[in-house]
Amino acid sequence: MESCVIEITPAAAKYGNLNIRPCGKDFFPEDTFGGSTKEKQGSLITINAEGVPQPIKTDIPTDNKTGRPKWIFRKRNWVKGFIESNNLKPGKTIVITRISKKKYKITTNNNHTKLEDTKNTESKSTATSKPICRVKPKQGIRTKKKMLDIGFDKTCECTGNNINCLTAKEWLKCQVGVWQFSYEGRDMRNKKAHPATFPIALARKITDLFSHEGELVLDPFVGSGTTLIAAQDAGRNAVGFDLQNEYINLTKNRLEENSSMFENTKQIAISDDALNISHYLPNESTSLIFTSPPYANLLNRKRKNKSRRDRKNEQYGKIEQYSQDPRDLGTMSIEKYTKSMGDIFERLLPLLRPKGHCVINVPDMWWENKRITIHVSLIQELRERGYELRNIIIWDRTNLVNRIGIFGWPSNYITMGVTFEYLLDFWRPPKE
Ligand SMILES: C[S@@+](CC[C@H](N)C(=O)[O-])C[C@H]1O[C@@H](n2cnc3c(N)ncnc32)[C@H](O)[C@@H]1O
Repeated sequence: MESCVIEITPAAAKYGNLNIRPCGKDFFPEDTFGGSTKEKQGSLITINAEGVPQPIKTDIPTDNKTGRPKWIFRKRNWVKGFIESNNLKPGKTIVITRISKKKYKITTNNNHTKLEDTKNTESKSTATSKPICRVKPKQGIRTKKKMLDIGFDKTCECTGNNINCLTAKEWLKCQVGVWQFSYEGRDMRNKKAHPATFPIALARKITDLFSHEGELVLDPFVGSGTTLIAAQDAGRNAVGFDLQNEYINLTKNRLEENSSMFENTKQIAISDDALNISHYLPNESTSLIFTSPPYANLLNRKRKNKSRRDRKNEQYGKIEQYSQDPRDLGTMSIEKYTKSMGDIFERLLPLLRPKGHCVINVPDMWWENKRITIHVSLIQELRERGYELRNIIIWDRTNLVNRIGIFGWPSNYITMGVTFEYLLDFWRPPKE
């Protein structure tokens, strides 16, 4: 089954104009492209759309003068109802699947299982508003995916089996398993713009350690784009994904402000579910995955600032959650979260080069006086999904926390979560 993903635009919500251009001409039968008026209608296809009671029969009109497809369905009066009944907003994506020669179904792209429909087929395909990644299956032939236009081969002069461009002296400094960083002027410290960011210096150290110049770095939960800024500084190509358009725009703005005339690499921010990343990148293209994912639903509650001396600061009583989108890992219970992370990272593994590293930054958290060991859950899950744990690095944050309140005294000893986080370093095991 062939599928393509398209985006709900304001024009779709207002006029029913679903932009089907990303699906391309060969996704529809040739005779479905009719003339510009109803009198010259093409042959009809049948569409079953989620939440729309009746099947829709329609063709696709072409332009009177040029004869080119108009890239919308002629029948449009159902689109508004479809959008409303599925509570879709502009920017959300939906999936069109070709079931047989003239039969299609349209489903929302709301949860991970919807795309699973195509998981075991010979090829998966998808696209955003740009026709970047639709796949056409051909019997018996490995299908070509239309991929992002981005480099992933090293451009440095490093020889042999070096895993990075570091000198021996620089390497030596990285051997210590406890790291500290400071924020700098370019770092994003505004909690209203994004509630959880790490320092550029952290992303830079990981990038320098686990990739060469010109290679590709991937951040599946890019947030405010810190990993991409570090990649831009370090001369690495990079791609970042986030569910929220708002964060993608923030990332794009930061990249633009940070750019210089001398760059020969690309950093691309894409608004999509991390579960779909394999549609954008070829296998074995990525040298490093580095990310800080959400921490299950542990931040999805009002902040009590228990660890602070000045509790009633700006964050007090606020929920520092990215969104309430059901695909957002920050809305999920720890069990569901762990499985969803496993599903995402399982799909990312083939994109990594053998011995390519995948570094995940997480803390543990406290919930109702119980320690929620996110790092343990993730280590177990990723091992089960084919990754090998190489190192655990402690990010010592003691230089970043101030005005600490007393916590648990005198009956309950609890180390303060804000004082350190884990950097879990996995790799894709080498080929036998
Ligand atoms: C901890 S933040 C990343 C912060 C980032 N390291 C920075 O420095 O800005 C996690 C991000 O994951 C995004 N997210 C949550 N679920 C997602 C999913 N299923 N696919 C893609 N992004 C997701 C959230 O919107 C949020 O911006």
